Amino acid sequence: MQTHVDSPTRGYSESDGVVTLRGAGESSCEIYLHGATVTSWRDASGRERLYLSPTAVLDGSAPIRGGIPICWPQFGPGPRWPKQHGFARRLPWALVSAEMKRTEPRAVLRLVDTEETRASEHFPYRFELTLIAALDAVGSLSLVLRVRNTGATAFTFTTALHSYFAVEDASAVQVDGLRGKSYKDNADGLEEKVEQEESVRFEGEVDRCYIGAPDDIRVGVSGVRLKKRGLSELVLWNPFVEKTRALSDMPDDGWRTFVCAEPAAVYPPVELASGQVYDATLDLISPLLTK
Ligand code: BG6
Repeated sequence: MQTHVDSPTRGYSESDGVVTLRGAGESSCEIYLHGATVTSWRDASGRERLYLSPTAVLDGSAPIRGGIPICWPQFGPGPRWPKQHGFARRLPWALVSAEMKRTEPRAVLRLVDTEETRASEHFPYRFELTLIAALDAVGSLSLVLRVRNTGATAFTFTTALHSYFAVEDASAVQVDGLRGKSYKDNADGLEEKVEQEESVRFEGEVDRCYIGAPDDIRVGVSGVRLKKRGLSELVLWNPFVEKTRALSDMPDDGWRTFVCAEPAAVYPPVELASGQVYDATLDLISPLLTK
């Protein structure tokens, strides 16, 4: 594709399988065609707001550890190939377009079914997945994940935009607004519990899927604000000390500098009839704009 420079600071480009958008102020975003994984989002101040593991595998041979991998057609472990978090984050997506909409750069990436995806007895369906990534007039990152059932048979899926946020100290981060919400505790055999605390803290392993979570959540008291639609759940994850050691693509102390807050659609799975389209959206807003 051609590089477009709209002004000295705004535009888009693609090089070696990485799409770069440059928007308002110092804002920018990088998206790997591998998995359509957003690996970087800098807000208008130029500050990186996403965590990417320094040992992430970026050659397409594995899902990318960090940024915003797309879990589809399955969140978590489950019956579908290849078990954990589905196949969308493991496959190369196509770049459909990159353009300026007025002064705002956006890119459209797509994945459709292949012989390989259809070969799975658990997901033999025809589909079209589209990711639309854009930087808006103030440098916020806006993502739309569009799922289209292009086959004759209905299917169900679960999904998550598995967002890794960069933080200075995970154990000092709190997420508010979940009190009274039910959650499945994946650090405790998926037992269903009810959140009793005003603030969820990351002082040990956290691996929870909050059911029917608010659509407007802040990661930390002064962190990024995320607004979601079509993604009723929120997964909070930090592997803490022991489980981080088991991750081959993260340094042992990696857990300290990120928390995952993952908008998801899990309970119940989304059912899509032939020809139907489902949109999930996520807006990430800089804390500098929402003080
Ligand atoms: C989270 C899950 O969404 O992703 C965790 O809740 C899981 O249980 C984590 O460990 C990372 O998964 P993966 O497959 O990228 O190592």
